[in-house]
Amino acid sequence: MLSYRHSYHAGNHADVLKHLVQVAILDYLLQKDKPLCYHDSHAGAGLYSLGSEQAQKTAEYQQGIGRLWQYQAKSAALASYLNLINSLNPDNNLAFYPGSPKIAAMLLRPQDTIQATELHPSDFPILQSQFARRRYSRIEHLDAWAGFKAMLPPLVKRGLVLIDPPYELKTEYSDVVAGLAEAYRRFPQATYAIWYPVIERPAIEAFINAIVATGIKNQLRIEFCPQPDKAGFGMSGSGMLVINSPYTLAASMREALAELAPMLAGSDHQGSNLWQVSQLVGE
Ligand SMILES: C[S@@+](CC[C@H](N)C(=O)[O-])C[C@H]1O[C@@H](n2cnc3c(N)ncnc32)[C@H](O)[C@@H]1O
Repeated sequence: MLSYRHSYHAGNHADVLKHLVQVAILDYLLQKDKPLCYHDSHAGAGLYSLGSEQAQKTAEYQQGIGRLWQYQAKSAALASYLNLINSLNPDNNLAFYPGSPKIAAMLLRPQDTIQATELHPSDFPILQSQFARRRYSRIEHLDAWAGFKAMLPPLVKRGLVLIDPPYELKTEYSDVVAGLAEAYRRFPQATYAIWYPVIERPAIEAFINAIVATGIKNQLRIEFCPQPDKAGFGMSGSGMLVINSPYTLAASMREALAELAPMLAGSDHQGSNLWQVSQLVGE
């Protein structure tokens, strides 16, 4: 059942979008002195070698971070994300790509808490070893949805919850809707960022409608598709649904995506409708 390994996909266009949004939210939350809690429900291994057999086999990163990492960005959000990638690769060689918990660890202060759950028997110990010496961290070999019940709310009542399942099972879409409702009930002050793949357009619209139907307020949709929608093609793009988004996020993502999208667009894309940032539910 757990066949997904993120090492095959690290640094692809979907990671670029997801981590651009993650960094922008954390940068915003870090403007206040008060400690925060970052909770990562599907954390992965934390750090990926782009020279590994898995990364080289798909070479997906070459169409993602590989096209971008040395670019001098004008948008502040894109520059902040690229600075982070560059700080991991100081030798003018793109050797490593950080996963979402590593990104949090690189940005957060010692007083902030990092919580993560990961089920894969090989990826979990790799992840856990990176946090062994960090004081405020709780890394569990636990199902994401059980983790919400066991670990939320945290002691600190502000933060970000990232929900990033592999969506290998059809049931994961309804699991996300139910899991979000449970997590939000426990920790309504948090910002939530839910990643989703765009594979079959009608199915993804139904998923988004189900999130809207939870009745949770303040929902923002950020989507980037480097390929045009084409049934049977596979993943044309991906999106992030952000709940309780920082008020600056929509504008900063419009600016970043206008700059980034043309650089990652596939050759068969017409150039329009590459991305969208839309408020689905008001505050
Ligand atoms: C897309 S990857 C995560 C990538 C990571 N969030 C990042 O951005 O670097 C999804 C991860 O979820 C894990 N996973 C799958 N089902 C899970 C579950 N029910 N609970 C916790 N982790 C799960 C997989 O093993 C995989 O490592």
